[in-house]
Amino acid sequence: MLRSALLNVMIKAAQKAGRTLKRDFGEVENLQVSLKGPANFVSAADHRAEEILFAELTAARPGYGFLGEEGGRREGSDQTHTWIVDPLDGTSNFLHGIPHFAISLALEREGMIVAGLVYNPINDELFTAERGKGAFLNNQRLRVAARKRLGDAVVACGLPHLGRGDLALGNRELAAVQPKVAGLRRFGAAALDLAWVAAGRFDAYWERALSPWDVAGGLILVREAGGFVTDLDGGETPWISGDVIAGNEAMHRELATVLKAAAKS
Ligand code: IPD
Ligand code: CA
Ligand code: CA
Repeated sequence: MLRSALLNVMIKAAQKAGRTLKRDFGEVENLQVSLKGPANFVSAADHRAEEILFAELTAARPGYGFLGEEGGRREGSDQTHTWIVDPLDGTSNFLHGIPHFAISLALEREGMIVAGLVYNPINDELFTAERGKGAFLNNQRLRVAARKRLGDAVVACGLPHLGRGDLALGNRELAAVQPKVAGLRRFGAAALDLAWVAAGRFDAYWERALSPWDVAGGLILVREAGGFVTDLDGGETPWISGDVIAGNEAMHRELATVLKAAAKS
């Protein structure tokens, strides 16, 4: 498979940051038994990975802006391009020794996401997409699942938890969706949730109150795999609004209808 220069830049950066995350994840497994636990260490790992991504991406594309979860926005001289970066999506999993987390990268050009990458360094699954050029898992072309009925669907979601999200609304949504689907999953890494929709592993996914770096990389994977991603009102820029529904056309529509009714109830 022939990859563009842009994707090669993103892959090189993600693989370099992924190597340190993988090493640090091994260390977390040792720290689990200590009284203080690995929390401080994990936040340092997070920052380390983001600095590697910043250095690599900026060296290859000087002037592009950079929006990272840890360091915030760093303006570039080129106002039309911004990297949107989560150096470690799935921090709670990482902290608890659960090998389900990823680096998420996206490139925004004039308000549109034009390239995305989601990389799990533990199993080496590398999801990439560029606008108009399809989505891939390693070298394999991706297509969203073809199932049409919610009753056959395995659906991923995010859940409110301590200090985060609207618990009452989350519970109404769960109560509405649970009896209509074949299975519900909460795996704890939004970027991988979207990547897995692109790969047809999940039929659909929804979550509220996300940040741009949780959504931007995975969004283009789903769209390039033939799926739909909007916010809960149908808006086309869910990485800005922070609410997201993804799936094939039918699943996206069905799930949106159920969630809308739950929000009103
Ligand atoms: C989190 C994960 C999680 C989602 C949270 C996000 P982080 O990102 O994507 O699945 O439910 O809302 O903040 O903090 O692990 O980078
Ligand atoms: Ca995240
Ligand atoms: Ca993060």
